[in-house]
Amino acid sequence: MDAIRIRGGNRLEGEIPISGAKNAALPLMIASLLTKDRLVLENVPRLADVNMLGRILGNHGVDMAIRGKRAGEHSGRGSVMTLHAETIADTTAPYELVSRMRASFWVLGPLLARCGEARVSMPGGCAIGTRPVDLHLMGLEALGAKIDVEAGYVVARAPSGLKGAHIAFPKVSVGATHNVLLAAVLANGETIIENAAREPEVGDLAECLIAMGGRIEGIGSSRLVVQGVASLHGATHAVLPDRIEAGTYAMAAAMTGGSVDLVGARGDQLEALIEVLGRAGVEATVTNTGLSVTRNGGKLRPVSVETSPYPGFATDLQAQLMALMTQADGISKITETIFENRFMHVQELVRLGANIALDGDTATVTGTDRLAGAQVMATDLRASVSLVIAALAAEGETVINRVYHLDRGFENIENKLGRCGADIERISI
Ligand code: UD1
Repeated sequence: MDAIRIRGGNRLEGEIPISGAKNAALPLMIASLLTKDRLVLENVPRLADVNMLGRILGNHGVDMAIRGKRAGEHSGRGSVMTLHAETIADTTAPYELVSRMRASFWVLGPLLARCGEARVSMPGGCAIGTRPVDLHLMGLEALGAKIDVEAGYVVARAPSGLKGAHIAFPKVSVGATHNVLLAAVLANGETIIENAAREPEVGDLAECLIAMGGRIEGIGSSRLVVQGVASLHGATHAVLPDRIEAGTYAMAAAMTGGSVDLVGARGDQLEALIEVLGRAGVEATVTNTGLSVTRNGGKLRPVSVETSPYPGFATDLQAQLMALMTQADGISKITETIFENRFMHVQELVRLGANIALDGDTATVTGTDRLAGAQVMATDLRASVSLVIAALAAEGETVINRVYHLDRGFENIENKLGRCGADIERISI
């Protein structure tokens, strides 16, 4: 099994290219189910989750091709993927596949919209608390689907097609917004989604659906208005840059007192993080190539932060911020409001010498001068990268086990950090 070994203490300096966003690439790939034509996606990150979803879509009958390298092209631009769902061969998404990646549950809406039926296993995914699908089902039922749960499968039927509806989500859900949007584009009539997730990845999906002939208004707001169309056609769309990857490397740079340019990062999608970093004494400046992050000497200041849906501070950056705050001069409070139980990294950070106390949904982090390398293990994607950040500042050697979590969401992490001076390597143990 692969592990990552890091010897801490090096300052990060240089450029890090930001990959396409995993959380946008996944729903975009799923959008291919909505048309008989080819959907071409550019800037697709090379990640285990992308490969996994490729297998799931393949099972439904989607042909997938990844274009080879062209002269003069560098690997930082991600792959160009063509997805072609000329016919849907199977409307069942089986447990063996869906249980490995929660986002694959989002095939439910588009399969239902295109085929009038779908049978999708209840999802699995990261071990970060109970993650129900009630909002997904509520939205699809409002569109006229009849839904039953049979032997761990959601069975949805709409033999005479889906009908536009007014859906007001009681809670913001990225996945439910994707699922309903992916169904409503082919429903008959107008759908209004209130309290829709405003995450940039939802906007990216909507832009792609528009390029495919969909009619959607309200992108970036919490009210999406969809006029259903009879069919969608092919399109070419570039996946937006990964704000979570960019935010992670911003915190890695800050952790080492370094200075990095995050090439391709969209500062306008990282405003909450930039504000928090500013309070902590880290300068993040939007440049014409991306985001430049510097912490020149000086202790970090502690901050108090609550996670919230976009444009608030992302839950997907919470673990990384906690690692960073272990080095602050004082006491920070980090409150997780999106997922219960998303504190699996705390125990492991404590193994590296962090001083963190948990009380319900709030972690109190008392800054320490010294973290020391140890063997640690990751339990989910963002937790594992928080251990990488901590290890960059820890004295001695840290070995992070269960790297497959990292490979699900971070492309080439050891190269990206290694090129900026980190002492990091992948080892087999
Ligand atoms: C997505 C992201 C994930 C991110 C999360 C929140 C992808 C692939 N994953 O996950 O990285 O951490 O958004 O920004 O894009 N909920 C319900 N009922 C539902 C659906 C969700 O109660 O039917 C709850 C969840 O338990 C959670 C909250 O709503 O407490 C937000 O979850 P949601 O936004 O749906 O997260 P995901 O789409 O799974």
